[in-house]
Amino acid sequence: MNILSIIGKKRDKKTLTKEEIDYFIKEYTKGTVTDYQAAALIMAIYINGMTNEEITNLTISMANSGETLDLSDISDSIVDKHSTGGVGDKITLILMPIIASMGIPVAKMSGRGLGFTGGTSDKLESIPGYNVNLSIEEFKENIKEIGISLITSSLNLAPADKKIYALRDTIACTANIPLIASSIMSKKIAAGANKILIDITCGKGAFMKDIKDAKELANMMIKIGRLAGREVRCVITNMDEPTGHAIGNSLEVIEAIRALKGEMTDDVKEIILALGVQMILMSGQTQDINEAQKMIVDSINSGRAYQKFKELVAKQGGDISYIEETDKFPKAKHIIPVFAEERGALKEVDTEMIGNISVYLGAGRTRKEDSIDHSAGIIMNQRIGNVVEVGHVLAYIHTNDESKIDGAVKNLKNAFILDPKRVAKPKTILGIVK
Ligand code: URA
Repeated sequence: MNILSIIGKKRDKKTLTKEEIDYFIKEYTKGTVTDYQAAALIMAIYINGMTNEEITNLTISMANSGETLDLSDISDSIVDKHSTGGVGDKITLILMPIIASMGIPVAKMSGRGLGFTGGTSDKLESIPGYNVNLSIEEFKENIKEIGISLITSSLNLAPADKKIYALRDTIACTANIPLIASSIMSKKIAAGANKILIDITCGKGAFMKDIKDAKELANMMIKIGRLAGREVRCVITNMDEPTGHAIGNSLEVIEAIRALKGEMTDDVKEIILALGVQMILMSGQTQDINEAQKMIVDSINSGRAYQKFKELVAKQGGDISYIEETDKFPKAKHIIPVFAEERGALKEVDTEMIGNISVYLGAGRTRKEDSIDHSAGIIMNQRIGNVVEVGHVLAYIHTNDESKIDGAVKNLKNAFILDPKRVAKPKTILGIVK
């Protein structure tokens, strides 16, 4: 077998065999297939597509390209959750302690922010002392002891995906349904869960810009899951505007802590209920949607969800005095309001631009090796549908870098589109696919 014939086959719209896909993944992971050969094959896949069988074979092959985790000694029913990424997406920080507080084991590895989207690991690291780099033994030990662990994906899970994902980023092949489906599912399968809930974000601040593509991605991941013996469900959530009001690491942690105490925006509440219900149903604790909703509300109102978050932070070395007293989180030196200059209803928000401004202010990285300013970011003061008067605050910029204020204010103003007519509030949950 050789890589040239494999590239040629896909270029000519032919179907690759399992052996050919395995060969490509194995040799590319090792480095004997070069980046330019892999780029040619990925581009051919992007243009000519893959059959469901090819996508499943690609997924399994990437899942087996490194270590795989066996969590069967913890439970035979581990439910994992993954988001396709967005702006202000702090749902994992809120939902996972809620689920763990019900005795459902939570074993979650999260990524770091890259591009305009944030990452849960960076958010957790804004809590002084919190260690996201646990060994696999510590990770499993924590789940056994307190029912939850949230770490970063530092293990060698699905290394082929890591390489291919980085490559896709450099050859304009990121937003492609077969490639996204196999990328996400390979990591989830390698991470050991047998039940997987995917939050497919959809809209201006997400990879999936329209609902048709989001549904196609959902159906594809469900099919891959079925063929790989995993139950997959997808909730499609609106990412036409940031989730909640905070964007940036400690700002989002503070919003998450308030949410765990019951104070949350309507969109966050709807997403927590929709995702939480599906996770509880998948765990088998109940099959009754109303009861599952009640379990979530009880977990928050009783303080159990908040206590579980504190337990998690303490267990992973974090200073819980910051959780108890969120004023202790360092604040950015400059907190600058951005005012509306005309009257109107907020019709559109350029969410991807807002994510990029937040990165520019220091909340994210433009290169992998960049360090993060945990206190930087943006607080949104308006949601789509709100009527805004001249002089109303649209958002606040949080930064420690004075030189960035003018550019950020100018761009942030342009990210809000107002309309003289009334604008309806958008739906938050766009669909559930299972
Ligand atoms: N998230 C992933 O893990 N992979 C993709 O390709 C897109 C989003």
